[in-house]
Amino acid sequence: MIGAYFRRNVTTSILPESPPFFRLEILSDIRAIKLHTSLMSISKEQLAQYDDHGFLVLEHFADERACNELRERAAEMVHQFDPREVVSVFSTHEQNRLTDDYFLSSGDKIRFFFEENAFNDDGTLKFEKEKSINKIGHALHDLDPVFDRFSRDPKVKKLADAMGFEDALLLQSMYIFKQPNIGGEVTCHQDSTFLYTEPLDIVGLWFALEDATIENGCLWAIPGGHRSGLKSRWLRTPEGMKFETFNSEPWPEDKLVPLEVEKGSLIVLNGLLPHRSFENRSARSRHAYTLHLIKAEAKYPDDNWLQRSLPLRSFE
Ligand code: FE2
Repeated sequence: MIGAYFRRNVTTSILPESPPFFRLEILSDIRAIKLHTSLMSISKEQLAQYDDHGFLVLEHFADERACNELRERAAEMVHQFDPREVVSVFSTHEQNRLTDDYFLSSGDKIRFFFEENAFNDDGTLKFEKEKSINKIGHALHDLDPVFDRFSRDPKVKKLADAMGFEDALLLQSMYIFKQPNIGGEVTCHQDSTFLYTEPLDIVGLWFALEDATIENGCLWAIPGGHRSGLKSRWLRTPEGMKFETFNSEPWPEDKLVPLEVEKGSLIVLNGLLPHRSFENRSARSRHAYTLHLIKAEAKYPDDNWLQRSLPLRSFE
């Protein structure tokens, strides 16, 4: 499926080493942020950190109850989902074309995506469905009342305002499972490669619904990497999806730092920030909910992969 475009097989034994002093500096910034978030407003210092690093960690943003509500709702959706509905998509000889279509038309739907190699040749799942689903996307925030309420909570709106997204439109949402033992990696990328706007200005909100650690596949990011411009765009062309590359330099992955956070934390990501996550080889899942915002006045091109017939909505 499409997710494989930015997934490949590596083991956690090749986790990059960051210069220890730099990692320490970043982590002490994160601890400093924790003290301020109890005020529930974003300080100038935090905004400066966001501008500087390209990300911001806000601990205790969502409370236990809110996190559990999303987790329970996702579990319910998976329970109600019958994988036989999509067997033909994932297990026929036309698999590549069908999985691409299934992904490319999911911008205004709630669809279930599986971990790589989740199916046997006969279309049956190798493991129970609850342990096979990679993510649900991409319009949970519009189509499901529980996710709608969480995504449009006044606290999220207030944060968006503080980040300069007063006229935000909620573009995309995903529930990511990062399953125990088999959770796939996501290679280093910028979200603006996939969700491009003119001017380039999107923000990603990454809510940890469980503790995210190095062991279970937390996010890693290159602090300040958002300043080196957009590296590529993934766009629709008459011949199919293509990457347009602006800079073919490899990512300086030795500069990645792990963003280990507790359940309830929110990581705010600049759309140009290079980030990734490694495979989850641990016995614990790493559930997260992500939401991407664009500005109403920005141009959203019709050759972006995500197109909708449902109009985009703000926080109202
Ligand atoms: Fe991303």
